[in-house]
Amino acid sequence: LMVTTAVVIALQYFCSDRALFAWERNVRSFWISITVLIPSLLLLTFALHVFDRFKIVFTDRFNGRIEKAALPRPADAASGRKPAEVSSQLVDKFPKDHALFDPPFLEGVHLRVFLKLEIVGRILLPYILDRGSSYGWQSSEETTKRVVVEFSSPNIASEFQGKHLRSTIIGAFISRLYESLGWDVIRINYLGDWGKPIALLKVGWGKFDSEEAFKKDPIGHLLDVYHQIEELFQPEQAASKKARDDAAKEGRDEGDAQVEIESQGIFAERNEAFKKLEAGNEAMVSFWERIRAANVDNYTDFYNRLSVQFDEYSGESKVSQEVMVEVEQLLKDKDLSEESGGAWIVHMQKLGAKAGTAIIRDRSGSSTYLLRDLAAVLERSRKYAFDKMVYVVASDNSVHFSQLFKILEALDMKDLAAKLQHVRFSEVSKMSAALGKGYKPQAILDVSEEAMKGLSQADEEKSGLLGNSEQVTKTLGISALLLQEAATRHTSAHAFDTSAFASFKPSTGPELQYWYTKVCTLLSGHAASAELADDQFEGLADEDRANLLRVLAQYPEAVNATFQSLEPSGIVNYLTAITEQLPDLLEDEEDKIDISAGSIALLEATRIVMQNGLKLLGVVPIPDL
Ligand code: ARG
Repeated sequence: LMVTTAVVIALQYFCSDRALFAWERNVRSFWISITVLIPSLLLLTFALHVFDRFKIVFTDRFNGRIEKAALPRPADAASGRKPAEVSSQLVDKFPKDHALFDPPFLEGVHLRVFLKLEIVGRILLPYILDRGSSYGWQSSEETTKRVVVEFSSPNIASEFQGKHLRSTIIGAFISRLYESLGWDVIRINYLGDWGKPIALLKVGWGKFDSEEAFKKDPIGHLLDVYHQIEELFQPEQAASKKARDDAAKEGRDEGDAQVEIESQGIFAERNEAFKKLEAGNEAMVSFWERIRAANVDNYTDFYNRLSVQFDEYSGESKVSQEVMVEVEQLLKDKDLSEESGGAWIVHMQKLGAKAGTAIIRDRSGSSTYLLRDLAAVLERSRKYAFDKMVYVVASDNSVHFSQLFKILEALDMKDLAAKLQHVRFSEVSKMSAALGKGYKPQAILDVSEEAMKGLSQADEEKSGLLGNSEQVTKTLGISALLLQEAATRHTSAHAFDTSAFASFKPSTGPELQYWYTKVCTLLSGHAASAELADDQFEGLADEDRANLLRVLAQYPEAVNATFQSLEPSGIVNYLTAITEQLPDLLEDEEDKIDISAGSIALLEATRIVMQNGLKLLGVVPIPDL
């Protein structure tokens, strides 16, 4: 309370700087704030007190978790003994002069037990230096398991959107994470390379194509054609939507007016083209092959720049017709699907879902997105015999995936359904607005690189250490992008804020790269060894160094926690916790004429852990270049 009071007075005083003598007025507002503050502080204290009696303390973050212990409150409450009493008795019982631990001390009602400062280094340094790039990954599984990770999955008729970028980055991260933990990982890119949008593009191609423009810039031209036909199509789509809404308002399932609208104009042309494609019409298929190949070429170039690889460029087009028919038959046999106005649908309520209708085959007899995914699961499970499959797809697909999983369960494939996971994330993104219409995915990396020009202005010294060669700028641009993505929780809107790329704020790509480079610079010319003399370990026994070691000890734990959440932000927070320990410590080392063997070992361990974490995020640490 005294501190708060002092702060309030200081604030009042400070704010009224120019009206130093308006003291009375300040006194009045001062009393108002005090009357609010005191009761709320009392209330808070009381609440904390009650809460504390029944809680077990988990120390979060990464500091000292292995060393802190807390008393289980409920047991004490039951025995009727006061927690403080129990704690102080335990302190007395603790052996004096323990080889590994300092005497515990009481903090409130908690008993804190710490390893002796020099012990931390003795245990950890040899361990980290010995494990090197494999430090952090402990697989508890005896046999190798296989996971299929499906990610990126852009649609070839339209732009590579923010949600696809997010899927690419999160999916590649999840793949590396599984791989590090000893899984056999199959990476699949399930392209949106089939369906009505492709057919619409073909309709547009017939109207706006130019071989010359395609030769010059295939993807740019295709996007251009797509936007032109989209614009032409727009009024028809609006009319159809209105007819459907009107029908729904009147309580009719089927809108005759809508059917009428969709049976002519571009609607009819598009549906006709898609039917031809599904029927294997030669001209349609060769058009489709041509644009698919052009897109895959272009994506591959983009993924290469990001160091992302796929085992398979699959896609909606690659799903076998036979397996789709097989799924449809299964649905009919189990009486799960029914005909409705020429379409085949599943009433989700029948399957125990709250509501919804799933369309398996549409009115025009074409397969749907859902039918293709249903068949794709069966195909993949036969081809790869996976133990797990992760779909890294934006939340706009959530209903789709819950229908997919529910239908599989209803088809008596519960075991298979249990292996599937939809890792969803917010599809909201400002990326396409930032890049404008008709951009190619490479533009994402170009603007990130471009933004690095602002780094020297952000911090001349830091950017000076990193350098500005072409290679470094490229790597920094990608680091900035990756870290902004990785730091954003799955549920938050996709940031893509290029104005924040050129920054050395905590957790940014440039900042993490800077500290990594700084550690490497101090290490250059020195070889680390963990076989240290006693006095070297004692030299590491100060608070700063022991704290850094404590953070380094938490890496496997951070990896494990991340494996549960599949959120890269866990690793970002962890790396940030390391960098928070570095400024004083590195400055201290820089001031020394000779860097000690103990410090070299500590810095090398720090470098190893940072390298492992950065690589897990997909970042190439700069001095690696
Ligand atoms: N192409 C889809 C989209 O852009 C994502 C594909 C998701 N994967 C799947 N198996 N359905 O939204």
